[in-house]
Amino acid sequence: MRLRTLRLQLRFLLPLFIVLVVAAYLAVPLLDKVTLRWFSRDLNSRGLLVANALSDSIAEALAAGRLSRLQTLFDRAAQDERLVAIGLCSPDGRLIQSTDRFPADLSCARSLEVAHKPDPRLALSGGAVHVGVHDVLGHRPAAPAALLSLDDWAPGDAGVEGNKSAVAETPASQMLVARLVLLHDLSFIDRRSEDSRNYLIGLIAILGLVMAVITMVVAQLSWRGWLSGARALMRGEGLVSPLMPAPELAPFAADLRARLRDMEDEYRRAQGPDAEWTADRLRTLLSTQLSGDQVIVVSNREPYIHERTADGIIVKRPASGLVTAVEPVMRACSGTWIAHGSGTADREVVDGRDRVRVPPGHEEYWLRRVWLTAEEEKGYYYGFANEGLWPLCHVAHVRPVFRESDWEAYRAVNQRFADAVVAEATGDDPVVLVQDYHFALLPAMIREKLPEATILTFWHIPWPNPESFGICPWRRELLQGMLGSTILGFHTRFHCKNFTETVDRYLEARIEHEHSTIAYREKETLVESYPISIEWPAPEQVERWGSIAQCRERVTARLGLPEDMCLAVGVDRFDYTKGILERLNAVERLLEKRPHLIGRFVFVQVAAPTRNSLDEYRNFQEHVQRVTDRINLRFERDGWRPVHLLAHHHEPHAVMELFRAADICVVTSLHDGMNLVCKEFVAARDDLQGVLVLSRFAGAVRELPEALIVNPYHVEETADALYSAATMPPGEQRERMASLRSTVHEYNVFRWAGRMLADAGRGRLRNRIEARVRRYRAD
Ligand code: G6P
Repeated sequence: MRLRTLRLQLRFLLPLFIVLVVAAYLAVPLLDKVTLRWFSRDLNSRGLLVANALSDSIAEALAAGRLSRLQTLFDRAAQDERLVAIGLCSPDGRLIQSTDRFPADLSCARSLEVAHKPDPRLALSGGAVHVGVHDVLGHRPAAPAALLSLDDWAPGDAGVEGNKSAVAETPASQMLVARLVLLHDLSFIDRRSEDSRNYLIGLIAILGLVMAVITMVVAQLSWRGWLSGARALMRGEGLVSPLMPAPELAPFAADLRARLRDMEDEYRRAQGPDAEWTADRLRTLLSTQLSGDQVIVVSNREPYIHERTADGIIVKRPASGLVTAVEPVMRACSGTWIAHGSGTADREVVDGRDRVRVPPGHEEYWLRRVWLTAEEEKGYYYGFANEGLWPLCHVAHVRPVFRESDWEAYRAVNQRFADAVVAEATGDDPVVLVQDYHFALLPAMIREKLPEATILTFWHIPWPNPESFGICPWRRELLQGMLGSTILGFHTRFHCKNFTETVDRYLEARIEHEHSTIAYREKETLVESYPISIEWPAPEQVERWGSIAQCRERVTARLGLPEDMCLAVGVDRFDYTKGILERLNAVERLLEKRPHLIGRFVFVQVAAPTRNSLDEYRNFQEHVQRVTDRINLRFERDGWRPVHLLAHHHEPHAVMELFRAADICVVTSLHDGMNLVCKEFVAARDDLQGVLVLSRFAGAVRELPEALIVNPYHVEETADALYSAATMPPGEQRERMASLRSTVHEYNVFRWAGRMLADAGRGRLRNRIEARVRRYRAD
């Protein structure tokens, strides 16, 4: 991590360093040149001053022919530390006088030549000197001097251009009498130039250092800020977190996240639909197509019920197809499940916000409990949901009952759950999975408070035809409530068709058959079929169940059955829609028709008590008990009886044990949205044995045609199917079971949830794109 930061900083610093080196490389010679020019100009003016000061004395001495006088004068002048030597040349270029340090080999012509150069520098053994030549003007001497041959004088000789200033004006009476050569010390200039070069390099180095430090600090801070900002964005916190370290990222945060998601969406889609659906794949889908989105499930029945018993608090799993299906999905995607807290110890285990982590011991998601009074439960759950909607949708020849007070309670409780959803939502667009007929009004209620939410409503029971549904006094309100959903799911296309026709009949809505959508009050709902299923058991799970032989042994021992018995089982809630009576009638008929099975065939019916407060259920359960007793009485002998009615709750592992022990599983629902019992039986039989007898009125029949399909109302047909099952050769069982298993394995519950969530993700993607296009247009 540090190494990466260092490398990144070097990327900043290297160009800076190069710029500074180039700057120094260019600046130092330039500085040398400039300082030299300044000094040379300085020396010229100094030279001019000296020449002016000396010229009169020189002219006089020359005129008087007394050159010796000049020696003293020159020596004095040369005491100046910057003046190395002075020489005097005759106009014809002979050195006629000089101080001690004037180089013996320096001629007047050479001095003049050097002085003409732009850089009049001369290297001597004692160091470099600046050469200046200045004209000395005066009157022509009256008589030849003793030491000077005046014949050699050539007045008006070409002056030294560079040093003309020695005599600003040449009056006509005056003429060039000599040239003064001044050698200035240059070593001090070199010293100064070196000093200033050092200063400059030092300055550039310090400047570079300061800039580097500032760059590093700024880069560090902004890089860190940017990084954590970008990370926060990726996590989806960018726009909402007040701690976001780089607020300047906010303007493009949404775009960035949207782009990433779109890319991931494409990637996932490119993977194709054929890959197996697993919890992991569902998790991946959630973290890509619905990334960062909160998932909230709402159902009436809770997945874990805390009950107080004499031995303390125990946790029970309810007998509910809905819970069986939704629980693994919830474990895969975490989130919050809101449900009615119905257990006697439920209140004792929740926190201050009525929440508890579940599953017990694993704690993968939150269960938020909503409390209902006995009155509310009576009106909303027993009354409107189970005496009204349940028989209405199942068309199982039980009259629906609609009471005004139940309807009021149903509405009020739906509102209570809508408020709970809003309270649990951490953003304005959670994904809410509304479950079943207890909450037909909930989607529109949630939509009102959270217009951006994605609401997936799944109707776990059948949807009747428009005429049947039309008997409900609040049919319009129910339909309006459901059309608050983004997606409305049913188990089968047939139920979707019934629903669409019902809407067509009772509401003013635009139905797009092509796209399976219903537009109502500017809001569009996708109506689609998503056949629900179960979680395919993992090998460890199968191992925990024990072998088929062990299960068979345990079950026969518990029920006191001989080992070689043909064992048929039924596992249901004790509900009139499940066709339990019809099943018993078929068993009776089987024994009538095939008396050799008497004493060799046993039917075990597990019937989990349900909705016992309702007369219809109590009457039904009593009726079943009476029929059971009658059949047993008729056929029992030597401690054997054909029907074992186990009317109590069985935990999932006990049900699995029974499935593994059985030869036949009987599912004879009179009408069922899907029915998961048949799928659980198939999943339990890794030995590829066992026969499934399945009602043609269960949604599952569309996926499981290899079962023996029966019309449960037709006793004869069902009895014959039981006989076929009891006598089916192992090879045929294996063939049918293998095919059934591959279907259930592939069409598992993660596929059910995954398809729905993927459709939701596609919808959300479409909305994002539309919003972006609108934004671009507005820009
Ligand atoms: C059916 C319904 C579920 C319900 C379950 C058990 O499967 O579709 O919503 O939870 O029966 O019924 P109960 O009334 O006990 O919840």
